[in-house]
Amino acid sequence: MKNSKIEELNDFLRQWIIEKDICHPTLKEGILYALESGGKRIRPTLFYTLLEDYQWECSCSVYFAAALECIHTYSLVHDDLPAMDDDDFRRGKPTVHKQFGEDMAILVGDGLLNEAMELAMIGISQMNPEKRNGGILAAKYLFRAAGTTGMIDGQAMDITAGASSQDILLYEKKTGALLGAALAMASALVEGIEEKAEAFYQAGLLLGVSYQMQDDLFDIKEDFQEYDENLLKHLEENAEKYTEKCKDEVEKIQGDFSQLKALMDKILGRQE
Ligand code: IPE
Ligand code: IPE
Ligand code: MG
Ligand code: MG
Repeated sequence: MKNSKIEELNDFLRQWIIEKDICHPTLKEGILYALESGGKRIRPTLFYTLLEDYQWECSCSVYFAAALECIHTYSLVHDDLPAMDDDDFRRGKPTVHKQFGEDMAILVGDGLLNEAMELAMIGISQMNPEKRNGGILAAKYLFRAAGTTGMIDGQAMDITAGASSQDILLYEKKTGALLGAALAMASALVEGIEEKAEAFYQAGLLLGVSYQMQDDLFDIKEDFQEYDENLLKHLEENAEKYTEKCKDEVEKIQGDFSQLKALMDKILGRQE
């Protein structure tokens, strides 16, 4: 996928917030701070890479990519709150509540979730009328994945499970749901076929398990002087296993998705 797509998304997100008539300066600043603190943009990258495999272009796609990243960003702002993971730093910078206060961080997260809704609606409205059902299907996948049977359910499970849990269902929901949505959205926009979008969603759930295991690995390496070698090995092996499982699922879907599969290998080899 061309890096210019992510640059375009970053410019778009910035302009979108800057041009908004948000009266409260700290709210605006907090939203920009959260969106521009150096996220890897992995979900939009998955989305655009699948669109590229489909050889599909539409001016509407940036609205969907932006909606996806707004939801991811809000989830991290709320995840870091004292009532949740109580983290002071993210991406090497103070978390939103450390920088702007807990009250404002809650509103920044709420604000971003609502921006996502508006962005998705505009994305749909920009589509050719005959293709709009695909846009509605994409939005359905995004908001369902973000909601009570997806990421929110995963976060609820995570709070009660404890830090050492490696429950696969929890990982699928907490992290896989949004990765699945990224792929399902691209498929839905292009083909508008629920079964195909669902197949990509399921593949994304597996990728999420791999991604979360890698994330846990990085956390363990960062936090402890002495590693539990067995746990590290378990996470490394399973991260690889779940990426392979995911690629097998993609293999079963009709079409050539070679750039997507190459990206999955690249994600597995990441160093952060
Ligand atoms: C972090 O997500 C939380 C997980 C779901 C593992 P990312 O690894 O996508 O975070 P950023 O956006 O690049 O910081
Ligand atoms: C991030 O999960 C939040 C979501 C997936 C919604 P974690 O709490 O496991 O990830 P980090 O370590 O804060 O990025
Ligand atoms: Mg958490
Ligand atoms: Mg956390």
